[in-house]
Amino acid sequence: MVAQATADHCRSIGDEVVALTRKELDIANAENVRSVVEEHRPDAIINCAAYTNVDGAEGEPERAYAANVTGVENLAKTAKEFGAVFVTISTDYVFDGANGGFYFEGDEPNPQGIYAKTKRKGELAALNANERSIVVRSGWIYGKGGTNFLSVMADLLRDGKRIKAIRDSFGTPTFAGDLAARLRELAELDEPGIFHVTNSGPGTSYLGFAEAVCEMGGFDATLIESVSKDELRRPAPRPASSKLGSLRCEEFGLAPMPDWEDALLRSMNGIQAKYHQ
Ligand SMILES: NC(=O)c1ccc[n+]([C@@H]2O[C@H](COP(=O)([O-])OP(=O)(O)OC[C@H]3O[C@@H](n4cnc5c(N)ncnc54)[C@H](OP(=O)(O)O)[C@@H]3O)[C@@H](O)[C@H]2O)c1
Repeated sequence: MVAQATADHCRSIGDEVVALTRKELDIANAENVRSVVEEHRPDAIINCAAYTNVDGAEGEPERAYAANVTGVENLAKTAKEFGAVFVTISTDYVFDGANGGFYFEGDEPNPQGIYAKTKRKGELAALNANERSIVVRSGWIYGKGGTNFLSVMADLLRDGKRIKAIRDSFGTPTFAGDLAARLRELAELDEPGIFHVTNSGPGTSYLGFAEAVCEMGGFDATLIESVSKDELRRPAPRPASSKLGSLRCEEFGLAPMPDWEDALLRSMNGIQAKYHQ
């Protein structure tokens, strides 16, 4: 999802982009990574690949580790060898959610599930292997391509099906298109370290997000059933609140990210044709 948005954005501003699927490049394979980077000699590598099945990771930690730690380390080392800027994406789930408010770049991570733990190890692997690494934490990402909570929700609501939305779990929704533009800016900025990138605003709950989707998409809001996170037990632990705020983007003079409701509306308009034909 984020890879497609990033490739589209970079092409739209005139970059020469080599976008590779897993079949073309297995990031967990060091030789594969080195030969691909040697062939293309990129100025920047933006890693959007990851093992992203949060619940699935509990049952297959080795696969999650291979992509989220070994893969990131392979790319970071190879970027250093070939002099490319390296940007990799991490997650709001590196935090445990105990503070109940926003997490900033300097806050201490405390990942809970296997997915979150591998993502945190991946952050450290990137930063240790390459002093030029840029780690971008984001959260609640939706956009074109793949299955994400907006597409699942909108598909069900369009079909008149009831959905359960958690009222006591909070995050900062992020439109993949906006994240993509910021990833590109950060590659250009070439300042290493951790950056938090989400759409701005106070954040919301899954329930708040679902209500906004109904309002903007013209769906029937009575189809939403409000549930607590404990009612909707899922295999992997998740932070109750993982809202991200950024001090570092401001420090480097980057413009505030668009507001999450504005971003959702733009994204919904983009998919309007699919849901309102
Ligand atoms: N979606 C969210 O809400 C969210 C929130 C916070 C952070 N993030 C992070 O954002 C980044 C992008 O997420 P996304 O939602 O765009 O993920 P996505 O749609 O699931 O895409 C991840 C891609 O990585 C590929 N991949 C997995 N292992 C690989 C390997 N060893 N080598 C090469 N490719 C491999 C996957 O291929 P297969 O499909 O073949 O496995 C998939 O195409 C990830 O780092 C994710 O952890 C996502």
